[in-house]
Amino acid sequence: MTTDATAGTPNQGSRPHVVLGVSGGIAAYKACELLRRFTESGHDVTVVPTAAALRFVGADTWAALSGKPVSAEVWHDVHQVPHVRIGQTADLVVVAPATADLLAKAAHGLADDLLTNTLLTARCPVVLAPAMHTEMWEHAATAANVATLRSRGALVIEPAEGRLTGADTGKGRLPDPIEIFEVCREVLSRGVAAPDLAGRTVVVSAGGTREYLDPVRFLGNRSSGLQGYALARTAASRGAEVTLVAANVSLPDPAGVKVVRVETTAELRDAVVGAAAGADAVVMAAAPADFRPVATSGTKIKKAPDGSAPPLELTQNPDILHELSTDRVRPGAVIVGFAAETGDDTGSVLELGRAKLARKGCDLLVVNDVTGGAVFGAPDNQAVILAADGAAVDVPLGSKAALAHAIWDQVVARMP
Ligand code: CTP
Repeated sequence: MTTDATAGTPNQGSRPHVVLGVSGGIAAYKACELLRRFTESGHDVTVVPTAAALRFVGADTWAALSGKPVSAEVWHDVHQVPHVRIGQTADLVVVAPATADLLAKAAHGLADDLLTNTLLTARCPVVLAPAMHTEMWEHAATAANVATLRSRGALVIEPAEGRLTGADTGKGRLPDPIEIFEVCREVLSRGVAAPDLAGRTVVVSAGGTREYLDPVRFLGNRSSGLQGYALARTAASRGAEVTLVAANVSLPDPAGVKVVRVETTAELRDAVVGAAAGADAVVMAAAPADFRPVATSGTKIKKAPDGSAPPLELTQNPDILHELSTDRVRPGAVIVGFAAETGDDTGSVLELGRAKLARKGCDLLVVNDVTGGAVFGAPDNQAVILAADGAAVDVPLGSKAALAHAIWDQVVARMP
């Protein structure tokens, strides 16, 4: 099957060396897309399938897509000691899909093929993306294996819910390969072996709420949800159990994240406050509409023949961040708010930020300067993270993921 050099090809230049393990589930075909993402973004990838994975996708496909020979066994190119070297030289090992069988072997340290040997020798971060039927995922044996792997520092991504192999649906789908790639990229970017939010539960809100005037019209705002999604994705890549409450966002679900969709501020409040009861941190990145119409028409509001505009009476929405910060349903939970400010004649952006931090009562406030509409829908962001304990951290212009990591760093530092 293989001719040479399946063993840990040394890192080519500064290209990160990724080992893509593939175990024997039908979702193996989705790993081809994951592989392409890695190679197209400059990663050096060694694919290590199991024998069962090769029944779904052949070695030639993996070899052609990775540009390298492929083997499932330890008995090829023995002189290069592949069962040790591949793991030793990796910057990241990701297994997608990871079957119940693969998780069991990894949890118990079995090493009867090249992939399981690689998992035993790797000292780099290990990401496992399970995919299986719901019954197998929920089985006590699988749950115990996942808990063992997590306790040893592996990042086990929660499977997605949806259509499974047959006609059935439920939890157990492999998340979108593009989103698995994003998690891997975050893990690689940090270069830390152990996820520091492992065992923590966090809630993130994202997007902008809508307050309906009638079935077709609403009051809304320009929030794209990108910063909130970056927060959810980075938290998942650091091992947290994440609930993302998304208001009117059209972005793909981040891998391993539970997404709750809402429309209005009242729905956002109920979802966030409900999830906050069990959370170690809540980050309010959403832009809730501050006002809603006193009444919503059940039918489309028609133009008046006399040219007059209909009256628009508004009432104030609940302030969710203030409520979370005041009620403190979970003592010790870190509450984070955002403030998009332009500055005005009453104060600078930072002065308004400090005043808002005190008014809201949260632990951290991420202050954005949105003068001129910058930030909305943009890939980059810059901010100052103000803390109730007086600290202020400047985060220079960079990706929204970089700001998200800076926020989690501050959250982790304040977790009991
Ligand atoms: N927020 C909230 N509930 C609201 C409005 C805002 O939880 N009804 C949260 C936002 O998610 C954000 C923070 O409060 O984390 C600050 O939002 P911002 O719109 O700047 O605050 P406002 O209280 O609306 O202040 P302003 O009067 O400056 O608009």
